[in-house]
Amino acid sequence: MENLIALVNRLQRACTALGDHGEESSLPTLWDALPTIAVVGGQSSGKSSVLESIVGKDFLPRGSGIVTRRPLVLQLHRIEEGREYAEFGHLPRKRFTDFAAVRKEIADETDRETGRSKQISSVPIYLSIYSPYVVNLTLIDLPGLTKVAVEGQPDSIVLDIENMVRSYIEKPNCIILAISPANQDLATSDAIKISREVDPKGERTFGVLTKIDLMDKGTDAVDMLEGKSYKLQFPWIGVVNRSQADINKNVDMIAARRREKEYFSSTPEYRHLANRMGSEHLGKVLSKHLESVIKSRIPGLQSLINKTIIELETELSRLGKPIATDAGSVEYEFAFVALLSVNHMSCPCFACSDQGKL
Ligand code: GDP
Ligand code: NA
Ligand code: MG
Repeated sequence: MENLIALVNRLQRACTALGDHGEESSLPTLWDALPTIAVVGGQSSGKSSVLESIVGKDFLPRGSGIVTRRPLVLQLHRIEEGREYAEFGHLPRKRFTDFAAVRKEIADETDRETGRSKQISSVPIYLSIYSPYVVNLTLIDLPGLTKVAVEGQPDSIVLDIENMVRSYIEKPNCIILAISPANQDLATSDAIKISREVDPKGERTFGVLTKIDLMDKGTDAVDMLEGKSYKLQFPWIGVVNRSQADINKNVDMIAARRREKEYFSSTPEYRHLANRMGSEHLGKVLSKHLESVIKSRIPGLQSLINKTIIELETELSRLGKPIATDAGSVEYEFAFVALLSVNHMSCPCFACSDQGKL
């Protein structure tokens, strides 16, 4: 089953490879048809922390204020064994095994596009992580929604961020991970506000409640977690990420996950919900859901892939024999080969009647 998501990851990379050159082909349509998971919420609601917990690695810039200033398209690839490593789309031949260097490269690559200001850019950074400890998933980290511009930001930034976020989550194939901090009223949640706009029935929105450990004494998140405050089709999932003090003290991910588990199983209010709380559970739920979405889309994807292959073939022959220095044709060739390989891969999915093909 994991193969299915790996396959979609490959398609996504084929689309990415074409970048700006893909406008005339069906590749952008194909990209839109592929399911992704986007993380949305207010600034400092814990989006990057949630992503890190799902991955089980420290690699994202985090903290107060606007830290995430470009979309980060994160592809997780499960490998059977071996050392974990990361690769960036803009540095295809460089393997990162030091995740602190990954974090630095994200920050540097953000600055390269935006300058060292607090500006944002809608040009995504592509990052792949290969690890025996991840589930196959594609996740998109987005800049946080905000209410006011701060020093050094144009007033338009509030709307710019909102529009950028919306452009990702309005696609019907986008699964929304809506992050709300438990220590704020759900009625004021930026995540709920924008996801309700694009998914009013909550059919593709997963509600995640962070900062449960920071709630006022005498209050708890039970009503929210049981969907009584705001109902979604899927059950709410609560998490306890590392606090800023934990980050400063270098509390590692394994210790943090263990503590999170203990928190839910030992707090009387949450004990009855403990088996469906926490980051690990969230990762599993998302992977399972993504698989079922992909399965339901297979027939449509198949015809789109075929159409795209034909268009790429035409485009390649128009460009003539690819010359190594011609970035456009090299990218077309790459995408073409990737799509062909996907098309000839036998389908690991039992639901699909077209056996032997995707
Ligand atoms: P983002 O701006 O939404 O990406 O939020 P970050 O992941 O950067 O987190 C913002 C701050 O909140 C960081 O200092 C985190 O340590 C802290 N934080 C996030 N989630 C939790 C949580 O569940 N509990 C506690 N105590 N702190 C959290
Ligand atoms: Na932040
Ligand atoms: Mg962030």
